[in-house]
Amino acid sequence: MQITATTFSGLEEILAKEITALGGQETQIHKRAVTFSGDKKIIYRCIYELRTALRIFLPFHTFKTKHENHLYKKIREVDWTAIMDLDDTFAINGTTSSKYITHSKYLALKTKDAIVDQFRTKFDGRRLSVDRDNPDHRLNVHLSYDNVCTLSWDVSGATLNRRGYRTATGEAPINEVLAAGIVLSSNWQRDCDFIDPMCGSGTFLMEAAMYAYNIPPQINRKEFGFMRYKDFDRALWQEVKREADARIIDFPYKILGFDKDFSAVKAARLNILAGNMDGKIEVERGDLLKLNPETASGIVLMNPPYDERLRVADVNAFYKDIGHALKHNFTGFDAWIITANIKAMKQLGLKPSSKKILFNGALECQLAHYELYRGSK
Ligand SMILES: C[S@@+](CC[C@H](N)C(=O)[O-])C[C@H]1O[C@@H](n2cnc3c(N)ncnc32)[C@H](O)[C@@H]1O
Repeated sequence: MQITATTFSGLEEILAKEITALGGQETQIHKRAVTFSGDKKIIYRCIYELRTALRIFLPFHTFKTKHENHLYKKIREVDWTAIMDLDDTFAINGTTSSKYITHSKYLALKTKDAIVDQFRTKFDGRRLSVDRDNPDHRLNVHLSYDNVCTLSWDVSGATLNRRGYRTATGEAPINEVLAAGIVLSSNWQRDCDFIDPMCGSGTFLMEAAMYAYNIPPQINRKEFGFMRYKDFDRALWQEVKREADARIIDFPYKILGFDKDFSAVKAARLNILAGNMDGKIEVERGDLLKLNPETASGIVLMNPPYDERLRVADVNAFYKDIGHALKHNFTGFDAWIITANIKAMKQLGLKPSSKKILFNGALECQLAHYELYRGSK
């Protein structure tokens, strides 16, 4: 089967590596997506085990189109009544890069109209209904810049960042998939302590800990889109879960989180409990500027306030202080910082050994690596 996994801009290569490791074949990297081939077991493995995928699509129909009426006609040519029943519910998500049909919502609406009209014609005015939150069928319609329209089933259901552990949020939580991608980008070999000194609701801590112990990212989630389909193979799904759960390993180092705000500490602790990770992560109230790690080396990864959603009185001075604390208290560590405030980042006074562009929502960010053991001043 042809399969498409979507992700955030900048994480495509990491996602492709993850897919190959799970047995996906013929991987090809696209903008915010990786296409590959595999059987049903690979699909189930990808849904259960990929850390950096947002959705998994199974494309089933393509055609070229440049006009809304033609799009409507081509959609009606598919026999939808053979795939979906009258009392089923469905939802459509549209994305477009075409210059002819430029609005994603309009693309989805036209597609929905064509499907609904086919049902109405065949069943005396009766039609199946839309359920945006919990549909039986999730259809994705994508129109590329070269006007190829691809129809796919979204077999993930709700996006895969919904791991099932986020019960409490801090003030500006990072997306779980983005956090996992950043942890994997850090090339951490799971061979030292991991510290997030500005942990907020603990997203990096959870993703780092699941990676450290090789815990499947969806171990706590119970529902996925593919379970609603007629060809759902429950025995195969159980097998995939059993095999992945058997690969969980021990991790002899520490995963530590700090935040100066006690409500963030509380939120992180709640999420750790909800994700069944208690005992694997420690979170304390603490100020990065006064923090002294117990070990001589490790990974320190953080997402400081950007002065966007989370305001800072003097953001340049704040970043200068962060740089000072890292230089003096974290010598021997590898530091990774993601921020959208590039101007403030320059105030760190540290020379990055690598930089990468990522998006946190709509905000363009830089993820920078500082090798503090090399005296990178
Ligand atoms: C952007 S949020 C981090 C969000 C987090 N990555 C998550 O997913 O929830 C930044 C956090 O830094 C914390 N913070 C700000 N200054 C700090 C300091 N000096 N020491 C420790 N934490 C600090 C804030 O309280 C806030 O929770």
